Amino acid sequence: MPDFYDDLAPLYHLIHQDWDASIRRQGEQLTALIKTEWPKSKRVLDVSCGIGTQAIGLAQHSYSVVGSDISANAVGRAEQEARVRGTKVLFAVCDMRQAHHHHGSGFDVVISCDNSLPHLLTDDDLLLALKEMLACLSAGGGCVISVRDYETEERGTNIVKSYGVRTERGKRYLIFQVWDFDGEQYDLAFFFVEEDLSSSKVKTHVMRSRYYAISITCLLELMRQAGFKNVRRLDHTFYQPVLVGTRTE
Ligand SMILES: C[S@@+](CC[C@H](N)C(=O)[O-])C[C@H]1O[C@@H](n2cnc3c(N)ncnc32)[C@H](O)[C@@H]1O
Repeated sequence: MPDFYDDLAPLYHLIHQDWDASIRRQGEQLTALIKTEWPKSKRVLDVSCGIGTQAIGLAQHSYSVVGSDISANAVGRAEQEARVRGTKVLFAVCDMRQAHHHHGSGFDVVISCDNSLPHLLTDDDLLLALKEMLACLSAGGGCVISVRDYETEERGTNIVKSYGVRTERGKRYLIFQVWDFDGEQYDLAFFFVEEDLSSSKVKTHVMRSRYYAISITCLLELMRQAGFKNVRRLDHTFYQPVLVGTRTE
């Protein structure tokens, strides 16, 4: 799985229509959520930071942010993107299933956004990651997870999800995913068809991964099993459903 994001890292921003606007918007939305749920928070840990969308966005709102990810290339790019924006974030390579072992505790908020958790393919692995996230928090701290709602997604094979077309530096990219379900999991192929607009030469990048199409109801239950309290789903605060929980002791 890290290979998927290592290969995707240079192209990842193209998933967004305007990545800087996404950084800004997501930073604002997460800040509003954190201020409502855990108003005194200062230290944030992002355990699946990727190229830094939420980590940079929150650092731009004056949070002290640590970001980590299992993909070394994604973390390398996140470091570079934070630097060019003059944003201070501490980045590290780390599997979220070892988040506490790596980062220790004392964080006010731990986040994992944009459907990162369903990369873990079993309930046992999800529970392990959630327990590690809980252990990273101080008492009173909160957890923010954003995921796809798989209960509203079509099941089957040859399912195409279009991300549209982007143009950048003389190139046009046609971006789409193909999903093939296999029980509760699915294989995903992420295609970037790159066309050089001056030579018309075409190159196709394809990255493959597997996801666990876990329902939000089951994820909320795993959060409770991990020890989070006041666990619930929030809609309309972010572009995806958000699951929150608090470490009370
Ligand atoms: C869809 S991306 C989201 C990245 C970032 N949150 C964003 O929105 O730009 C999912 C991320 O989860 C990371 N990931 C998957 N499994 C992981 C694990 N076990 N530990 C840490 N990161 C993981 C991937 O490397 C990838 O960067």
